[in-house]
Amino acid sequence: MSRFSPRTDFSRTPNPLAEALARHRAHGLPLLDLTVSNPTQVGLPTPGAGLLHPPGAYHYAPEPLGLASAREAVAAQVSSQGTSVSPAHLVLSASTSESYGWLFKLLCEPGDDVLVPAPCYPLFEHLAALEGVHTRAYRLPLAHGFGLDAGEVEAALGPRTRAVLVVNPGNPTGHFLHEGELAALAEVCARHGLALLCDEVFSPYGWDLEPGRVTSVAGRELPMLTFSLSGLSKVAGLPGLKLGWVHVGGPASARDEALARLEWVADTYLSVGTPVQLALPELLAHAPRFQAALLERVRANRQRLLAARPAHAAWDVVPAHGGWSAVLRIPREPGEEATCLALLDAGVLTQPGYFYDFGRGAFLVLSLLPPPEDFAAAMPPLTRVLAAE
Ligand SMILES: Cc1ncc(COP(=O)(O)O)c(C=O)c1O
Repeated sequence: MSRFSPRTDFSRTPNPLAEALARHRAHGLPLLDLTVSNPTQVGLPTPGAGLLHPPGAYHYAPEPLGLASAREAVAAQVSSQGTSVSPAHLVLSASTSESYGWLFKLLCEPGDDVLVPAPCYPLFEHLAALEGVHTRAYRLPLAHGFGLDAGEVEAALGPRTRAVLVVNPGNPTGHFLHEGELAALAEVCARHGLALLCDEVFSPYGWDLEPGRVTSVAGRELPMLTFSLSGLSKVAGLPGLKLGWVHVGGPASARDEALARLEWVADTYLSVGTPVQLALPELLAHAPRFQAALLERVRANRQRLLAARPAHAAWDVVPAHGGWSAVLRIPREPGEEATCLALLDAGVLTQPGYFYDFGRGAFLVLSLLPPPEDFAAAMPPLTRVLAAE
């Protein structure tokens, strides 16, 4: 038997819901999928054909941090979210996920740890483990609408903690970081010498105009090393094109050292393709059209969900301000998994809160991306199953 690294020793045992779903599909039963998160599969606009064959697509002139024209286009995109940023402070990668790997290499020794929010999309544990890095959870209290509590961050710190990850707005909670939360977090980061990694992939998807909301930390004067992450996958709904970016900010000397080191990491991989970089200005010019269509879709589906909820129901839609999901608080009995299995029997696929580490309470997570007719058709079985609990 060959020996493999424990870093790749992930569980491959399917959970009961995955097993039930496989049986459901094997029997050819109808299914309304309220977990779909792939923006290319739900009938949203895509850019015109031909953009990925720009002149010069086959010419290779490696630029570790990314082509100047592509970094300028990203700088304009990031600046439109808040403060003006310089292309010189940007690093292009193949995806946000790859950016995390590069940042963990930059900041952590194997055995160090990073703080991750809970509840949250379950991405970081695996990305960190592949770099030999551990994660420690800090709670986003339900009582604060899943907002960031700097006291929870500080309480979760360990002797080897190097960075704090924030997802703004949270996935799936849809809570945006607020100015007061950022100020308190910055104070904790500065006092403990921690870097901030701020995942802003969903920040263009605010549903309303909330006062005090932070849409991006890029370009702000903050006392700690700050990395803002995003990419084409969510900003333009193009996950298959493989282009992400990191904006590096914070005190100038630490920022410049981080950029020099990241250039070296990026030069080791040279992972971003030339055609997508050359097409980036036009792909980003298409982004507002995609974002407007997506926002219309998620707002309308959320309205359908709110309208379907009977008055005095034992379940509720958790208040939120953005993103692509809805979170339902459901009765503790019969619990998340039993509810998801009952919904699957009724032909509706949803996710249990434990996929996202909600901790206390019982929750369901629904995607707001499905085509309107699918989402509307799922409301009667959803409300029927939830009413039976
Ligand atoms: C919060 C968050 N960050 C990052 C990603 C991954 O982004 P990318 O496709 O750029 O790797 C996801 C994927 O859903 C996500 O939910």
